Amino acid sequence: MEILVIGSINIDYVSTVEKLPKKGETLHANSFEDSAGGKGANQAVGARRLGANVSMIGAVGKDAIGGRLKDSLAREGIDVSRINTVDVPTGNAIITVDKNGDNTIVVYSGANFEIDNKWIEDSEELIKKSDIVVLQLEIPMDAVVYSAKVAKKYNKRVILNPAPAKELPQEIYQYIDYITPNETELQELTSIENIELGVKELLGRGAKNVIVTLGEKGCYYLGEEGTHVVDSFKINAVDTTAAGDSFNGALAVALCQNKDIKDALRYANAVGALTATKKGAQTSLPYGKEVEKFIIMK
Ligand code: RIB
Repeated sequence: MEILVIGSINIDYVSTVEKLPKKGETLHANSFEDSAGGKGANQAVGARRLGANVSMIGAVGKDAIGGRLKDSLAREGIDVSRINTVDVPTGNAIITVDKNGDNTIVVYSGANFEIDNKWIEDSEELIKKSDIVVLQLEIPMDAVVYSAKVAKKYNKRVILNPAPAKELPQEIYQYIDYITPNETELQELTSIENIELGVKELLGRGAKNVIVTLGEKGCYYLGEEGTHVVDSFKINAVDTTAAGDSFNGALAVALCQNKDIKDALRYANAVGALTATKKGAQTSLPYGKEVEKFIIMK
């Protein structure tokens, strides 16, 4: 089970607040911490903790934080040989989390935006040996499209988590096996409010399977294995940061295990739910044993 994540690595600066700030408002935080994040790195760590062999292509800055984040990925057992160190600050995210576990996130891309096609080309060996390639949108769009294209050249399955949502070039859809927007991202991508119609639009553009994550309502799937609505697991959300990331990491793992889509989505829902029960991004990502126990108890 070889998963390759091509994506972002950030340091998250997280303040917890009673309620999210309004425009122009200054609030006192109840607590503050910094911790490892970035959608790409979260998905990589998520998949690794569920038992997959994971490699990552990414970038950090030549600063102390960059070294710390790369070391922490290596300690997780992730192959970091294609995480380059560049002369641009490491990416960061300013996150506020309210008492319901909802958040706002502002990302500074920094080193993540130094990834280019040459870098991907030089990392083709990693793509060749992977079973699934997982992508998000926190690195340059050209690199995302090129990565997906190379992955398809080697007949690899491609998951694109279109977050944060950006317009996608038409070319990329032909390379996508699974696209996994949340409701807001789906609307951004298609300008269509109705979920079913939005999903059909993405299929019409060429994606093979569409999965819309619906938070506490679970997820909706339409694609090669029919239509499925898969319920969420009921939990008390503490912090939803990285719940979408862990969903994607878990989906990659479940697909590598050849689970059918319904089982894969139930598993990914469980992992996403468990993630929301703890604070932080990588600090909240569950291990395989915890997930098994959680599913049995529900
Ligand atoms: O999805 C959560 C992640 O988004 C955070 O870890 C932050 O770094 C941003 O990339």
